[in-house]
Amino acid sequence: MKKVRIRGVGHYAPERVVTNEYLATIVDTNDEWIQTRTGIQSRRFVAPDQTTSDMAAEAARMAMKQAGIQPDDIDLVVVGTSSPDMLYPSTACVVCDKLQLKSPTAFDLQAGCSGFVYGLTTATQFLRTGLKKNALVIGADAISRFIDFSDRTTCVLFGDAAGAMLLSSTEEGSDQVLCSIDGTDGSGGKYLSMPAGGAQKPASIYTLQNHEHSVHMNGKEIFKFAVRISIYMIENMLQQTGLTIDDIDHFVFHQANVRIIDAAVNRMGFSKEKVIYTLHEYGNTSSASIPFTLSLANQNGTIKENDIVLMVVFGAGLTYAGSIVRW
Ligand SMILES: CC(C)(COP(=O)(O)OP(=O)(O)OC[C@H]1O[C@@H](n2cnc3c(N)ncnc32)[C@H](O)[C@@H]1OP(=O)(O)O)[C@@H](O)C(=O)NCCC(=O)NCCS
Repeated sequence: MKKVRIRGVGHYAPERVVTNEYLATIVDTNDEWIQTRTGIQSRRFVAPDQTTSDMAAEAARMAMKQAGIQPDDIDLVVVGTSSPDMLYPSTACVVCDKLQLKSPTAFDLQAGCSGFVYGLTTATQFLRTGLKKNALVIGADAISRFIDFSDRTTCVLFGDAAGAMLLSSTEEGSDQVLCSIDGTDGSGGKYLSMPAGGAQKPASIYTLQNHEHSVHMNGKEIFKFAVRISIYMIENMLQQTGLTIDDIDHFVFHQANVRIIDAAVNRMGFSKEKVIYTLHEYGNTSSASIPFTLSLANQNGTIKENDIVLMVVFGAGLTYAGSIVRW
């Protein structure tokens, strides 16, 4: 088997900052409720002329530049997203066009917010076997386009962003992806869904009137699942690798709700100082949450070479995914 190296990371967030105070002017909510129940203070929304593939391409450009890899050398593109530009072509194909990539294998991976980490594990298999040499794994979502702004239980949670990682297959050195875990509890699909717009319920005047083209969520069920599954993934990955909590330099949780992260951290009994948070400023950026946080932390020097980073995420499906990497 060949080794997988992380060559570069990138991120992008749109310019428009949407504060809790602003949301309170359009829906019955307030800054105090949002901050105490979620930790979120603001988020970013795409501009009217921007879409998911634009953010994905920006994050990918940054990762390619950092890696020093040219467009012609990318032979795999995986885009984790649940807000694709359109049903088809896939957002990955649109990104190939925007970045002028030669002819890579390119596909979207729909695993809710777990899309990027699922993509990381998927790309890793292509690279280890040597089938592909340079993979762009992107997590990008413009969930603001699918939010019902009359539903205060969901519209305060999400923000738009993209994150990317460029991985290469090599013969030398050690593999930087130390382990992974992923899975699905399909019985929980009903707790987080967008009911209409697919083959089961195509767009109609009724689906529009019933607000069925937006995020529908049972927050309490997701919350319970999130805490339980995050702890399970951490314990499983520590067991797989023989590492201990003390060996982990940084924990990157899905940036959904500070109370979910803190509940998992408190139950496992480790220090919050090792946890990297971006949700206060950017909210839940869905598939972008993990790679966006990784890239930002890399850029500001929080994550350094050789650090051990553990990431866990959950999402619609209900899916879950985690990985431990050596930076
Ligand atoms: C959504 C979430 C923040 C709600 O927090 P909570 O503590 O469970 O709050 P509840 O749903 O019990 O609501 C409590 C009260 O606040 C109200 N409320 C809900 N959203 C509100 C808002 N934005 N502003 C003000 N009040 C709000 C509710 O109507 C409810 O009022 P009631 O008691 O009069 O009925 C929380 O459940 C959560 O984060 N779940 C996980 C969601 C998630 O991660 N989704 C993405 C997965 S990828």
